[in-house]
Amino acid sequence: MAKRQSSTSRRAVKKAAVNTVAIIGAQWGDEGKGKIVDLLSREADIIARFQGGNNAGHTVVVGGEQVILHLVPSGALHPGKTCVIGNGVVIDPGVLLDEIEALRSRGYLQGEDPLRVSERAHVIMPYHRAIDLAREKRRGAGKIGTTGRGIGPAYEDKMARVGIRVVDLMDESVLRERLAQTLEDKNSYLRTVQGEKTFDLQEVFEQYRAFGEKLRPYVSDTSHFIDDAISRGQRVLFEGAQGTMLDIDHGTYPYVTSSTTMAAGVAAGSGIAPQRIREVIGISKAYTTRVGGGPFPTELNDEVGEKLRRDGAEYGATTGRPRRCGWFDAVVVREAARLDGLTGLAVTKLDVLRGLPRIRLCVGYKLDGAPLDHPPPTVAAWDRVEPVYEEMDGWPEDISAARRLTDLPRAARSYVARLSELTGVPLAFVSVGASREATIVVNDPFG
Ligand code: GDP
Ligand code: IMO
Ligand code: MG
Repeated sequence: MAKRQSSTSRRAVKKAAVNTVAIIGAQWGDEGKGKIVDLLSREADIIARFQGGNNAGHTVVVGGEQVILHLVPSGALHPGKTCVIGNGVVIDPGVLLDEIEALRSRGYLQGEDPLRVSERAHVIMPYHRAIDLAREKRRGAGKIGTTGRGIGPAYEDKMARVGIRVVDLMDESVLRERLAQTLEDKNSYLRTVQGEKTFDLQEVFEQYRAFGEKLRPYVSDTSHFIDDAISRGQRVLFEGAQGTMLDIDHGTYPYVTSSTTMAAGVAAGSGIAPQRIREVIGISKAYTTRVGGGPFPTELNDEVGEKLRRDGAEYGATTGRPRRCGWFDAVVVREAARLDGLTGLAVTKLDVLRGLPRIRLCVGYKLDGAPLDHPPPTVAAWDRVEPVYEEMDGWPEDISAARRLTDLPRAARSYVARLSELTGVPLAFVSVGASREATIVVNDPFG
């Protein structure tokens, strides 16, 4: 008896020790990260974004009310938490201030320490947005389909060491100097290469100085803040934006975003050591979507694709663009499992497949007739990839009230089990509706 007790308590101690969980998109974004982050935030003390910017659109549905977050972490709807915008995020201060205001007016972000913004995060400037839009216009049919938020140009400046950081907004002489150093260059590029209008130094300076003043109460060293919290045993939830196939290195380049979206980005983008990250939950729809241009082997340009778009309300949360829809692609999610070191899989939007008599899932690729079991490096090769499909039975039942796996019809249960088997990742969550409640918790990563 004593022996059994001690092994149980050892297990309990091991479980309780998990205090860091990362939520990562396993496809091309919009997998439902916001919903899962909101759900897990109840158990967390700190919820941190570490990359991306307001290209993200994370939708949370609470009490029938929908909230779309672009920069503030999706933990903001739980009182008493601290949300962190880490150093790896690119921040459009006007957008952030509007979002803070909107959330506060709805009763959120009211606690003692509701939001911290890294002093090291880079700032999206008006010329970044202008350059993003101008380039897309000139690319015409070959455009990436960016969100037009200035994300790429802001990360370019960060890497080129000419970026402006949040800390620079805190000191007007530094801000003026940094702007003076870079604006001439930007204006010359906008005028002569892109044929676009230019920006006035004084106007931009005044606007960003004012943004800096409003942001000041939130600005701090978030790297030490998060690290110290982890050391004290507090629970930290890291919220990814975009998805692994949009990763700058490992995604469908150049049809990607400009940051490290995979789990490796957590460490650099929040200023902690990689060993600190204990559990990594990959979020994947029960099918696939992508918004913008680029390869998508399992895309459906038929009535099934239409059904997924209609029943899944597949329109972008940031730009309102219709999302491209297709079958689940196990090659993509398997690659995410490898790159991200996924310890659990959250399958979302299973309810949307309802009513399809047969469901296909891509189990592998063929490239020029030869089997290929992981993504190729070029768009040219991606475009020649042929998915290898397997078919399973669908289900006619409404599954949105299911709260345990055993509540699901047999065909739906077999389908999610197959997704887990094909990707080699154990199920953590199955989501059957947009609301917080419409979730089957198979294995809570916080234990
Ligand atoms: P994110 O960017 O990964 O946070 O995902 P988005 O919020 O952009 O897109 C996911 C959409 O699906 C949102 O509108 C969610 O409210 C919705 N959603 C999330 N999970 C489910 C689900 O299980 N079923 C249905 N029907 N909708 C869901
Ligand atoms: P969340 O966090 C889906 C896509 C854009 C475009 C490409 C590059 O809501 O999952 P960018 O503006 O980042 O330079 O655009 O990446 N994209 C997303 N697609 N969800 C997102 O975020 C995305 N953020 C960027 O559509 O194809
Ligand atoms: Mg989204």
